[in-house]
Amino acid sequence: MEKVKVLISKSKVQKRVVELARKISRDYKGKDLVLIGILKGAFVFLSDLARNLSIPVAIDFIQVASYGASTTSSGVIKIKKDIDLPIVGKEVLIVEDIVDYGYTMDYLLKFISHKKSKRVKICALLDKPSRRRVQVPIDYKGFTVPDKFIVGYGLDYGEKYRNLPFIGYLVQD
Ligand code: IMP
Ligand code: MG
Repeated sequence: MEKVKVLISKSKVQKRVVELARKISRDYKGKDLVLIGILKGAFVFLSDLARNLSIPVAIDFIQVASYGASTTSSGVIKIKKDIDLPIVGKEVLIVEDIVDYGYTMDYLLKFISHKKSKRVKICALLDKPSRRRVQVPIDYKGFTVPDKFIVGYGLDYGEKYRNLPFIGYLVQD
């Protein structure tokens, strides 16, 4: 059985999410912004982030399937659920839980850019740069994390731990 240790406390996560929301609210004031959350991992982050914004936004979700072992992605990615909203001419902010190898974000950035939005930027709660294989520009970043398997605040291990209010990492015992 695995155990979870706290990496970033609930209060630190909440404080950082408020800071990111303030910055996004300033940067997108008066603009037509659509947040696109990546299911399932980003659902907690997106819901806290969105509730701290002081500007109106539209919200949609996209889901990808990535084929590989359960704790890594292989780079073979497919769209499982596309967005429903039209984004032509709009500002888009992709909201993701974690960028690890970078395959998922690289794929989605290209996929969403084909939809002729005005601009696409990336907001990732966590950045795990140690294993990066493809460089992706993270415009809004919550925290940089070490090369550990992260769970909580939306992130899972075999669908467990998404509901933890803090960011933790797995240890085997
Ligand atoms: P990438 O293509 O390797 O950047 O994969 C990113 C995706 O892999 C994220 O959306 C997560 O779903 C998953 N992932 C990567 N690292 C972790 C982790 O430490 N914990 C949980 N999920 C992770
Ligand atoms: Mg994910």
